[in-house]
Amino acid sequence: MTFVLIKTIHIFAAFIYGGFLIVDNLFLVKIKKSYNEEEHKEIRESFMKYVRNVVPPALIVAVLTGLYLITQVFGPISEEGMSSFQMLLSLKAFLGIWLGIRGFLQVYMGIQPLVFKSHVLPFSFVITIIFLSQFMYI
Ligand code: HEM
Repeated sequence: MTFVLIKTIHIFAAFIYGGFLIVDNLFLVKIKKSYNEEEHKEIRESFMKYVRNVVPPALIVAVLTGLYLITQVFGPISEEGMSSFQMLLSLKAFLGIWLGIRGFLQVYMGIQPLVFKSHVLPFSFVITIIFLSQFMYI
């Protein structure tokens, strides 16, 4: 029961975080075309102030619930080495933890990544994580 509950929270948090990145990268970038730079900045800021209240906490919840889930499903490593599930899950966890640390430092500590131009990197990580989260079961 606890596992199912935590997993549901995990998926929900992933939806909120991933959903924002999808909207930002696929749709919001397009409004640049209709406004000049100053207007675009203002419009973007008007919704980013709400985004900041919801999306970074969702990322943290995704990472914390993910850490719980991995302790429940990873299982022992056999003598032949890791199974493909364990390998893909480790890669998924690595990318998720990377996003979590990067997001936490950026939003709560004000430490900007070396190059910050857009949300393309987190977007590509989330797409990869979603594929890994399904293909790891094969
Ligand atoms: C942005 C970060 C993350 C996203 C978007 C994400 C997304 C997802 C998705 C979509 C699933 C699939 C659930 C299903 O199909 O049943 C999943 C499962 C899972 N995630 Fe994450 N995740 C993230 C971070 C993490 C982290 C950091 C860890 C571990 C440290 C983790 C561990 C797991 C585990 C263990 C499962 C599988 C549970 C099972 O076998 O039923 N996730 N995640």
